[in-house]
This record gives sequence, C-alpha cells and structure tokens, in this order.
Amino acid sequence: MNITEAIKSRISTRAFLDKPVAEETLREILDIARWAPSGGNLQPWRVHVVMGAGRDRLIETVKKAIAANPLADESELAVYPAKLPPPWRDRRYAVGEAMYDLLGIPREDKPARIAHLMRNYEFFGAPVGLFFSLDRQFDKGQWAHLGMLMQSIALAALDKGLATCMQEAWAARAKTVSAFLGIKENEQLYCGMALGYADPAAKVNALRSSRISTDEFATFISH
Ligand SMILES: Cc1cc2nc3c(=O)[nH]c(=O)nc-3n(C[C@H](O)[C@H](O)[C@H](O)COP(=O)(O)O)c2cc1C
Repeated sequence: MNITEAIKSRISTRAFLDKPVAEETLREILDIARWAPSGGNLQPWRVHVVMGAGRDRLIETVKKAIAANPLADESELAVYPAKLPPPWRDRRYAVGEAMYDLLGIPREDKPARIAHLMRNYEFFGAPVGLFFSLDRQFDKGQWAHLGMLMQSIALAALDKGLATCMQEAWAARAKTVSAFLGIKENEQLYCGMALGYADPAAKVNALRSSRISTDEFATFISH
C-alpha cells in the first residue's frame, strides 16, 4: 500500500470481527510508529495496550463504574469547546447524523443512540485497545506530537490489514481507566484507540466522512 492510498483509505472503524490480533503484530506496529516525529525529538508519548484477558477486565471495570454512576464525567480535558460554533458544529453534526442514518437510528431514538455510544467502551468489539498518555508538564506542542504517533499507528495498522478507531470517548472515564492502567498522577490520559479486523458486513463501517477542500483550509502566498 502506498502512502497516499493509506492516508486516504484510513477510516474510523466502529465494528470489528471477533478475531484476535497477535501481540507480535502490535509490537511491529508500534515499532514502525515510533519513528513518528516530535519537536526536539522528545518522543513525549506513552502507549498502554490492552488485549486478551486484560482488555476484557478493563471493559468490565469501566462497565461497573458506568453502572454505579452513569452520568459521571471524569474528563480532565474538554473534548470540544463548550460552545462549538459553525462551521465546526455543522461538521460534527453532519458526520454524526450520517453515522446514525447508516445505523438506522433516528434522532428521537435516544436509547439506541446512547447504546451505540456505549459501544465505545467495548472498543466496538475490537480485540485490542490502546491508550495514550502524556506527562502533565507537557503543553500543546507535545499534545500535537502525540497526534503524529497516533496517526502513524493507524497507518501502520492499515498496512497490516488492520482497522482502527481513535476514541476520545474514554476521556469521560479517564480516572477509572488511568487507575486500571496504572497511569501515575504525573501523567494525563488523552485518548483511546480500538484496533482489530474490520467487520465488512457492518453497516456502520460504510461511513465515509467528507472533508473541506484544500482552498478552505490552506492559504498560499506565492508572490
Ligand atoms: C483524536 C480523535 C478522537 C476520536 N474519538 C472518537 C470516539 O470517541 N468515538 C468515535 O466513534 N469516533 C471518534 N473519532 C473519530 C472521528 O469521528 C473521525 O475521525 C472523523 O469523523 C473523521 O472520520 P474518519 O476517521 O472515518 O476519516 C475520533 C477521532 C480522533 C482523531
């Protein structure tokens, strides 16, 4: 797979086959992704992988926490600004509605929409979950560097026939997840990532999000 093809074909996969991924494969993916760049070559990232019984235990732990306190929000980071104005709000709305359309879940069916959201906390059925954390000393620069690692992981996985979905949803259970993973006080959990084999029969995996044109986000000064 060439790089252009990889970048353009990576999508967020939200239904996975019940098919394990070998630890060796995960190690190979991380071994490739560790070549992602970072300012000053700090390589500020930390990655926590859960798979097999470890994954199942994490899911169970988070499920119990949700059952005990369904509305708790353990986020330290706001996933979006409190008031998300247009055009960003419209983009978020559009991709969400396109997903629920594919799933056949109308706007009024809140329980079904919530049930789909809750699939985040099962990695959408993926056999592997990754979590990313950073030392709390780090600022916006290092957060951006972590993003480079995450995309590199997604592309390296794709090259091995694997699919991913980045998951900020886990931030709502950051304390529970951090305690499970043994993330120390000096580190902050950012995001999760589901990784596994895409379920080709799942309707939700047919979702193709749109993008604004290059001229809408890029400026060229050439004279
Ligand atoms: C950092 C990050 C966190 C995300 N968190 C979630 C999430 O919690 N749940 C989810 O279903 N999708 C999540 N997404 C997927 C986005 O909705 C998706 O990337 C976007 O709609 C573009 O679609 P595409 O990834 O298929 O190209 C996340 C994406 C990124 C980059």
